[in-house]
Amino acid sequence: MNRKPHVAVVGATGAVGIEMIKTLEKRNFPVGKLTLLASARSVGKKLTYRGAEITVAELTKDSFAGIDIALFSAGGSISKEYAPIAVQAGCVVVDNSSAFRMDEKVPLVVPEINASDVKWHKGIIANPNCTTAITLMALYPLHAAFTCKRIFASSYQAVSGTGAKAIAELERQVDQVVKGQPVTREVYPHQIAFNVLPHVDSFLPTGYTKEEMKMEGEGRKIMHHPMFRASVTCVRVPVYRAHSVAVSAEFDKPVTVEAALAVLKKAPGLDVVDNPAKCEYPLPLYQSDKYNCAVGRLRKDCALDNGLCFWVSGDQLLKGAALNAVQIAEELIKGS
Ligand code: A2P
Repeated sequence: MNRKPHVAVVGATGAVGIEMIKTLEKRNFPVGKLTLLASARSVGKKLTYRGAEITVAELTKDSFAGIDIALFSAGGSISKEYAPIAVQAGCVVVDNSSAFRMDEKVPLVVPEINASDVKWHKGIIANPNCTTAITLMALYPLHAAFTCKRIFASSYQAVSGTGAKAIAELERQVDQVVKGQPVTREVYPHQIAFNVLPHVDSFLPTGYTKEEMKMEGEGRKIMHHPMFRASVTCVRVPVYRAHSVAVSAEFDKPVTVEAALAVLKKAPGLDVVDNPAKCEYPLPLYQSDKYNCAVGRLRKDCALDNGLCFWVSGDQLLKGAALNAVQIAEELIKGS
C-alpha cells in the first residue's frame, strides 16, 4: 500500500477501544484517516486523536467501505456478525474477541512470538486472550530454551478486563462499603470490592471456565506447540488494571534460576523485576499503562521435575489487548 491506511476502531468508546486510539497515536502508527465506531448509544460522542476531535459513528453493515484496517473490540457477537462484512468490503480485521481465535483459517498472533503467522491471514487476524498473552510473554522464551511440557497457573485479573462497566462497579461498591451502604451488583455475580471471585467467563462441563481453557488452546496455537498442557484457575480481583499470573512450569530440559533469568533478560517486551530482598517484584499497580510485561519471583519449583515458578504482570488493556492489536497492524503494513 503506498498511502497511509484508513483505520477504524470498532468499540471505540470501550475500555480497550480507548486504549487502541491512544496506542495508535503513541506508536505513531501511519494512520491516513481514523474512523471511530460504536453502538447507537455513542453516536455523536467525540473522542480525541492527535489533538483533533473525531465524532463516533454507529457501527452498521455499511461502515467498512474504504477502510483498510479495522481493530475490533466490541465483544464476540459483534465480531462474528461484522468481521466477515468488513472482510467482504476489503478490510483486514484485527479482532480482540474470542470469536475467531481457534479458527484454523485465522492466525492468532503475539508479535514477539509468532509475527510471521500474520502473513497467512485471509482477512481476519485474532488477538489472544489477555491472560494468555501476558503469561506467554514470559513462558514462550523459557519454552524456546527449555521446552515447556505443562504449566499450573492462577491468574489475578483486573476488573477493566470486563470493560468500562466493571470499572464503574468496583468504584461504586468501594464507595458503598466505605459509606456503610448496601452494595449493589450489575456486572459480577458477587461483590468484587474487598473480595476475589474464582470465576472468570462461563463454566464448562469439566468444571474449568472457558477463560481457564484459553491458556492451553491459544498457547498451543501461538507457540506452535500442540502438546502444551495448562491447568489454570482464573480469579477476578479488585484491581483496576493489569493482570498477574502465578505460574509453575515444567520443562523437558533441566532449568536453573540463573539460566532462566539469562533467557528472560533478553526477551522482547519483558522486564525482569526480581529482587525479593528489596521487596521488588512485578506489581499490577506499576504495570498499568506500560507496554512491557514484567516477570519476577523466579524460583525452582519444589514439587515439579525441571520446574520453575514465576510471577508475571502486564497491562491487559495494552499487551493483553490494544497494544498487541496495534503491533499486529504494524506487522501487516510491514508486509504490504
Ligand atoms: P457503546 O459505548 O456505544 O456501548 P467495554 O468492553 O468497555 O464495555 O466496551 C464495549 C465497546 O463495544 C464499546 O465501545 C461499545 O459501544 C461497543 N459496543 C457494544 N455493543 C455494540 C453494538 N451493538 N454495536 C457497536 N458497538 C457496540
